[in-house]
Amino acid sequence: MTSKKETPWVSVAIDGPSGAGKSTLARAAAEKLNFIYVDTGAIYRTVGLYALRRGADPKDEAAAEKLLPEIRVAMEYAPNGLQRMLLNGEDVTDLIRTQEVSMTASAVAAHRAVRTFLLKMQREMAETRSVIMDGRDIGTVVLPKADVKIFLTASSEARARRRWLELQRRGTPKEFDEILQETVRRDADDANRAVAPLRPAADAVTLDTTGLNFEESLERIIEIIRERIGL
Ligand code: DC
Repeated sequence: MTSKKETPWVSVAIDGPSGAGKSTLARAAAEKLNFIYVDTGAIYRTVGLYALRRGADPKDEAAAEKLLPEIRVAMEYAPNGLQRMLLNGEDVTDLIRTQEVSMTASAVAAHRAVRTFLLKMQREMAETRSVIMDGRDIGTVVLPKADVKIFLTASSEARARRRWLELQRRGTPKEFDEILQETVRRDADDANRAVAPLRPAADAVTLDTTGLNFEESLERIIEIIRERIGL
């Protein structure tokens, strides 16, 4: 049970490396608990897409920072509850899901100016409703006072295998070794960056889903949330 809070809203932070199942699990948990699901990776992906379109080197902090005044990122919720991303008014929800955008997003997300630019909108999302927010630094930076913090992880092999299966299912298969290498590389980039690196908050509950299937992982997440907020 948590101590008395200033707002009636509950916030749940779910952080962890790519492919740990954060987004699917967070979305399902939010639906079960009737919270809003906020995918913060989509915000970085939107900035990544803009950098890509402008041909800017995403690793160059000054170049990325120069683009920021040109970017308006907005998040909307469709009637079915799905989050849509708008880039300067254009719906880019589907365009930000490519591997190229993943790598660019990871690069632009390393810059302090980019993170500061996106911080306010993320915090505001949790001010007027109950949310489950997933990302890399939600429990440590964005919502340090979140009621529940979960660090969701799984071995790199397990995460690469899930991605391999997903790509097969989508009809766009790829070599397992290549996926594993990309997974390890993106983890290292996210964990080793100087600003808001990926790491569990001191008060986070770590959940390793390597040996768990989707239903088991979801059950554990709901349990952790219910225990913490005393539902
Ligand atoms: O969760 P995702 O794969 O959609 O995120 C894309 C990239 O954005 C990821 O490589 C790291 C970055 N990211 C971040 O730095 N902080 C967040 N809160 C969310 C994502």
